[in-house]
Amino acid sequence: MRVFVLNGPNLGRLGTREPEIYGHGTHADLVELCGRTGRELGLEVEVRQTDHEGEMLGWLHEAGEHGVPVVLNAGAWTHYSIAVRDACAQLTAPLVEVHISNVHRREEFRHHSYISAVAAGVIVGLGVDGYSLALRWLAGKASTE
Ligand code: DQA
Repeated sequence: MRVFVLNGPNLGRLGTREPEIYGHGTHADLVELCGRTGRELGLEVEVRQTDHEGEMLGWLHEAGEHGVPVVLNAGAWTHYSIAVRDACAQLTAPLVEVHISNVHRREEFRHHSYISAVAAGVIVGLGVDGYSLALRWLAGKASTE
């Protein structure tokens, strides 16, 4: 099964971006972790990152058209983009929302997510392990369907 791991704005800067919040691992490390987890689970994992909202919308449309499950960290778009939420609502396979940091322990404006209401579930605050956990859940779900 193919799975998309989609990362939004500023996540390409992992490793140098506020390491006290997001850790020292880079986006390349995250790609490696998702690839490794995917191989272990027999998933074909494709990790993509963009700072451009239109590109993200295109990837979500692609996932919806092909029935591809999605692990999404929409970064700051989470908190204000109705367009990203509307694209998520069109997905035809499960969506797992992931945040590296515990957004609920941070600024008030990070407490609301436009994505959560259209996601199967949400993983926050467990660092990049959240991505592996999301992939594990998707693999388990697919094996029982
Ligand atoms: C984030 C949390 C968001 O509030 C922030 O804008 C990000 C990263 C996280 O993974 O913790 O860019 O989604």
